Amino acid sequence: MLVYRPSGLKASCLLLSFLLLTAWETGSCQVHYSVPEEAKHGTFVGRIAQDLGLELAELVPRLFRMASKGSGDLLEVNLQNGILFVNSRIDREELCGRSLECSIHLEVIVERPLQVFHVEVEVKDINDNPPVFSVSEQKLSIPESRLLDSRFPLEGASDADVGENAMLTYRLSSNEFFILDIINKKDKGKFPVLVLRKLLDREENPQLQLLLTATDGGTPELTGSVSLLILVLDANDNAPVFDRSVYEIKIYENSANQTLIIRLNASDADEEINKEMIYSFSSLVSPSIRKKFLMNERTGEIRVNDVIDFEDSNTYEIHVDVTDKGYPPMVGHCTVLVEILDENDNSPEVAITSLSLPVREDAQVGTVIASISVSDRDSGANGQVTCSLTPHVPFKLLSTFKNYYSLVVDSALDRESVANYGLVVTVRDGGSPSLSATASVSVEVADVNDNAPVFAQPEYTVFVKENNPPGCHIFTVSARDADAQENALVSYSLVERRVGERALSSYVSVHAESGKVYALQPLDHEELELLQFQVSARDAGVPSLGSNVTLQVFVLDENDNAPALLPPGSGGGGGAVSQPVARSVGAGHVVAKVRAVDADSGYNAWLSYELRPESGGLRSPFRVGLYTGEISTTRALDEADAPRQRLLVLVKDHGEPALASTATVLLSLVDSGQAPKTPSQMSILSTGPEAALVDVNVYLIIAICAVSSLLVLTLLLYTALRCSAPPIERACGPLKPTLVCSSAVGSWSCSQQRRQRCALGRARPRPTSWPSAPAFHHVLYQRWKWKNNLLEGTTLGSHDSPILTGVTLPP
Ligand SMILES: *[C@@H]1O[C@H](CO)[C@@H](O)[C@H](O)[C@H]1NC(C)=O
Ligand SMILES: *[C@@H]1O[C@H](CO)[C@@H](O)[C@H](O)[C@H]1NC(C)=O
Ligand SMILES: *[C@@H]1O[C@H](CO)[C@@H](O)[C@H](O)[C@H]1NC(C)=O
Repeated sequence: MLVYRPSGLKASCLLLSFLLLTAWETGSCQVHYSVPEEAKHGTFVGRIAQDLGLELAELVPRLFRMASKGSGDLLEVNLQNGILFVNSRIDREELCGRSLECSIHLEVIVERPLQVFHVEVEVKDINDNPPVFSVSEQKLSIPESRLLDSRFPLEGASDADVGENAMLTYRLSSNEFFILDIINKKDKGKFPVLVLRKLLDREENPQLQLLLTATDGGTPELTGSVSLLILVLDANDNAPVFDRSVYEIKIYENSANQTLIIRLNASDADEEINKEMIYSFSSLVSPSIRKKFLMNERTGEIRVNDVIDFEDSNTYEIHVDVTDKGYPPMVGHCTVLVEILDENDNSPEVAITSLSLPVREDAQVGTVIASISVSDRDSGANGQVTCSLTPHVPFKLLSTFKNYYSLVVDSALDRESVANYGLVVTVRDGGSPSLSATASVSVEVADVNDNAPVFAQPEYTVFVKENNPPGCHIFTVSARDADAQENALVSYSLVERRVGERALSSYVSVHAESGKVYALQPLDHEELELLQFQVSARDAGVPSLGSNVTLQVFVLDENDNAPALLPPGSGGGGGAVSQPVARSVGAGHVVAKVRAVDADSGYNAWLSYELRPESGGLRSPFRVGLYTGEISTTRALDEADAPRQRLLVLVKDHGEPALASTATVLLSLVDSGQAPKTPSQMSILSTGPEAALVDVNVYLIIAICAVSSLLVLTLLLYTALRCSAPPIERACGPLKPTLVCSSAVGSWSCSQQRRQRCALGRARPRPTSWPSAPAFHHVLYQRWKWKNNLLEGTTLGSHDSPILTGVTLPP
């Protein structure tokens, strides 16, 4: 830019030239020009020659030259037209720095005459420099905890221009936290300051990017800017937090030691040390919980550290603190609710109390024997207990109340069937798998006297030989009582009755304890053939029970009576009365009869007669009928026969040993006329009691024959049965002998039983003539029936029983 002030300059020069003409030589005149900086090459500055009063033509001859101190050839003069122009770029800031005045001092020298002129060219500032910040980015670290209105000075910008061009104003990019304040310092210009208008939060805005712009006052204005990076420093202003305030955890009881329950994870919005956390149980946590659980303070893991038992406690409330390491530290809280789930780890328990044992066998259905309580420490289904009893017992369980049961009688008891029950009560819970427990109860059934003593048979038949020694043991009765102790203690006694004139107890006695039956005196078959009585057995219970058994004691005959001779007709055969016999009778004529009876029976009463040899020997004309006792002639009598004959007849029974009597028969032989009464006498003999005797003997023979044929028949039948019967039956036969023999006293007896085979316990072999046992028994039975029907309650004499006469006794 050209600034030209011709009037002022010309006037002063004219004045100077005019006043001080001589001074021209010294060149004291001053010329001022001004030129803007940064002007282009050739920019006109001033007509220097003219202004110095020099002729254009004389410039060259006078050697016009220009020198500038330190400024080089920034300006040049055109010698043709005497114009000063810009030769090269002039930078005011380079030339003068920040000084407000800046001029180039030119010395113009012409010679002939030497003249020196001083020209000053003022270099004028233009706004060619923008405001400049020393750095492109400014970093500021500001703690987030700074209070409002805190101030943070910034480095300002600089402008190489001067004056207006260097007058800077500042602007801050829009933001919510800071505003800009400008401080004017004398001489040193303006400085920008950041002022905090809103609290910082590192957690929200860890850093801010602002732009500070400086603008100068030039026209046009220039700007410069710097970016401000504000780093917000952390303060421990955030407590650690859990993502939930309550954690609910379920674990099973009996979890293994060190089982992880939960890994707590708190977060802290702060950073570095302010976010480092330590987990711990709160001070509220009881020692028992501290014992059960272990907290890892670094990882926040809570683990099982002890036995966890649902039955101890089923929930745990654990208060947890988390503390960061900032200063001051901040604390967060949460609660961990641990719910313990039940496991079926407790067996049910069963307790049996108040037993009322033993239980009487006549206890009513529903009688309570014991009370049973069950329990299970588990809960829910694991603690639901069911109770059961051994099956098939006459007891049952009744639920009286929750978990209480009664053991009651369910059906009738019988000690005699089962005296003791081993009951097992089983309790079982509803867990899976379920647990169970058992308890045993031994239920003893107490005896009640509900069973009478029982004899094996209702009736026993005993055979006793007569003439037994007094006090001999003839039989033993035995009754069993199914009860126990005194209820089964049987004592025997005789059921007293009268036997004829006498009391039964004079014949027999029963030992109360052993049941042995004794005959108190010798029995006499001829007096008493059958003794029938009852033995009573009673137990010692209260009230006592009893039963009777009937004993039939048959008194067996022994040959203890010798044949007794009856007086013949009105007289006896044994008497000395002589019997007349006519000599005229022929051979085979019955002349007399010996009559005898035997009080015994059977063989013992079967008599035979024989003539003793002393009675005339072979020559005797008489013989006696072996069984009839009739004396008859063997030939016709003659004169040689003695008129008086004395016959000795031996009357013998068939007992063993046989007993005999001797009858003496006196016969007197008379001539024919002297014996008129003989036939009538004979007829008397045959129609008197002798006739009955003959009959008896005939009956005896018939009976013996019948029995013998029965024996043969039975033997045949028996043989046939033996051959056809299966072997098992045979084998059983001997296994149950029913014969009771009392050989000590030489008696024998045989029990009466249907379908039985009875063997005789005699050492001696049975003679073939002896009737077989069944036959024998049959006869006895018939006789017994007959007697019972007809003569019940009376004793039998030896002659009263026509059937018994058929029985033979063992020899
Ligand atoms: C804790 O939580 C944070 C975020 O919530 C997650 O990044 C970190 O992995 C978690 N730590 C653990 C140990 O679970
Ligand atoms: C559980 O384990 C810890 C560490 O091993 C031990 O100290 C503690 O006694 C254990 N607890 C039980 C009940 O075994
Ligand atoms: C036994 O016999 C006696 C006398 O005859 C009688 O009183 C009693 O009732 C009988 N006992 C039984 C159980 O039959």
